[in-house]
Amino acid sequence: MSEYHVPVMLDESVTALITNPQGTYADCTFGGGGHTAEILSRLQDGGRVIAFDRDSDALANAPDDPRLTLVHNNFRFIENYAELLRREEPGNTLFPGAPEVFDGILADLGVSSHQFDTAERGFSFRYDAPLDMRMGRESETTAADIVNTRSQEDLERILRLYGEVDGARNIARLIVAARAVEPIRTTGDLDRAIEKALPKTAAHKQLAKIYQALRIEVNQEMRALEKFLDGAARSLKEGGRLVVITYHSLEDRMVKNFIRTGNVEGKEEKDMYGRVHAPLAAVLRKPLTPGEEEIAGNTRARSAKLRVAEKPMERRTGA
Ligand SMILES: C[S@@+](CC[C@H](N)C(=O)[O-])C[C@H]1O[C@@H](n2cnc3c(N)ncnc32)[C@H](O)[C@@H]1O
Repeated sequence: MSEYHVPVMLDESVTALITNPQGTYADCTFGGGGHTAEILSRLQDGGRVIAFDRDSDALANAPDDPRLTLVHNNFRFIENYAELLRREEPGNTLFPGAPEVFDGILADLGVSSHQFDTAERGFSFRYDAPLDMRMGRESETTAADIVNTRSQEDLERILRLYGEVDGARNIARLIVAARAVEPIRTTGDLDRAIEKALPKTAAHKQLAKIYQALRIEVNQEMRALEKFLDGAARSLKEGGRLVVITYHSLEDRMVKNFIRTGNVEGKEEKDMYGRVHAPLAAVLRKPLTPGEEEIAGNTRARSAKLRVAEKPMERRTGA
């Protein structure tokens, strides 16, 4: 699957994930299926993988393996699928409490190389193509809809929050001025609209941030991640692991906060003994990052951070 996507931190993530080789695992971002294939290769009899991807292109990468169930849906619904799985369990007739079915849950966030490198998907400023950027083509809002309809203040907020874009106000102003003349339909239209705000050197770095910000808004990535983290914590068995690979600081902060406090804002809620109430506990104090060799062979790995958390044995959620 390397043409579709080269999996990042493959050994580190799967080693951290599998605690029981006969267990049930979720790969929430199937993509080219690299992580799923590695998980399957390490499982013994009875082990299985439920994989998710919201992009129908990924479905073609499914191996013919009865231990794999591939779900074409947003991973924000992980808890609903956990509930379905629990209903399948023999002997389960009534289902109070949380659907603790997974021994491990993996999410390798963001877009795949396939999505990025397919010109007509509109994720990249390297090609002149329709300004689309939807991971799941069932959803209605494209990046063109966003740049053509949102207020200047909203565009500024999106650029600042999701791209940490310098000069977000000026870029939002240029977008609004350009669309007043003619709608912005393609990546080329967008690049021309904001040209004046791009630095003379390394303009691609600024463009990458702007495109990242729009992509996150189009796909509602932060909302999906928040809902996913909550659902994942409830869907893990005691002793089960959550492994998340992030590619930018906002995502990483949300994951780090959630592991520390149980919410993505990082608000500490203490119990009567002054202990912070969080459903998971960090397995690694600091995130793992890829080695130099991996980065040299795969530039996409450059910004990766891998965090691992575990559901403690003594703390049951929803019980
Ligand atoms: C970085 S790639 C994963 C690559 C994969 N680990 C591999 O080894 O090939 C991210 C994938 O997750 C999918 N994805 C991103 N957000 C999603 C979401 N909220 N729900 C389901 N799939 C999502 C994307 O469509 C993309 O295929």
